Amino acid sequence: MSEPAFTPQLAAIFAALVEEASGIHYGPPERDLFGSKVAAQAAEAGFESLLDYYYRLRYDDPEGVETRVLVEALTVHETYFFREIAPLRQLVEGHLTEIVRAQGAARVWSAACSTGEEPLTLAMLLEQHGLYDRVEIVATDISEAAILRARTGRHGRRSLREPYPTDLARKYLDVSPHGITSQARLREAIRFRTLNLFDEAAVEQLGRFDVILCRNVLIYFRDQSVTKAVARLTKSLAPSGILAVGVAESLLRFGTALACEERGGSFFYRSAR
Ligand SMILES: C[S@@+](CC[C@H](N)C(=O)[O-])C[C@H]1O[C@@H](n2cnc3c(N)ncnc32)[C@H](O)[C@@H]1O
Repeated sequence: MSEPAFTPQLAAIFAALVEEASGIHYGPPERDLFGSKVAAQAAEAGFESLLDYYYRLRYDDPEGVETRVLVEALTVHETYFFREIAPLRQLVEGHLTEIVRAQGAARVWSAACSTGEEPLTLAMLLEQHGLYDRVEIVATDISEAAILRARTGRHGRRSLREPYPTDLARKYLDVSPHGITSQARLREAIRFRTLNLFDEAAVEQLGRFDVILCRNVLIYFRDQSVTKAVARLTKSLAPSGILAVGVAESLLRFGTALACEERGGSFFYRSAR
């Protein structure tokens, strides 16, 4: 049987549904890829008609369970150890060291942590600088599969890419031809949980953070969703707290309530409160 056609109209209504649920935007240039993923999920859920599948998600899925399954299939979990490590070093050696010195403890939120390589890299740097016991790390992602994977501490070989700091890798990672396992002690420092950045109530419950990492996720959102997500993250920052986005991302054109600061060659956004 041939696949049902993913017309521009179907693409538009599915894209709106996915964007409302997750912020993730699929535009006309990605229609083929989006269509094949939606079709695969429709078939998996037992639907021959994409429109029937849409009606199910939109009007007959009150808890959003089926929509979450679709979003799960659409998330991109690309991440690796030591990715964009310079800003992380800067935060550990600067802001977090200062906060721990002044207050005795600090909190960090890795807000779209994928399979955990980002918060694990941070935990290594904290350990190296004697801050491991003083900094609480909360790591969340919309993808339940990614969080389950993160909790296992097992990663594929693509999670380690040249060039990387060999001293840290040797100390904290067990690398074999079959994959990579992170040290259990590192994982114990991190509270992993599933969370959608747009779930206001769940985000509120996490409390305030001295540092929020929200890196390489805003690129999947359109401007209106970036503005909404950043406004929510801003509320979650402690006074003088710092938000770090990916090195290829910039919030300057969004006119946020945060002040952009350069520290040691890395750019951060600081709460004015
Ligand atoms: C490319 S990964 C980035 C991982 C890591 N921060 C890094 O820089 O390597 C993007 C992650 O954002 C997550 N994501 C997408 N939309 C999200 C949302 N609305 N709430 C929370 N996480 C989301 C995806 O599931 C994915 O794991």
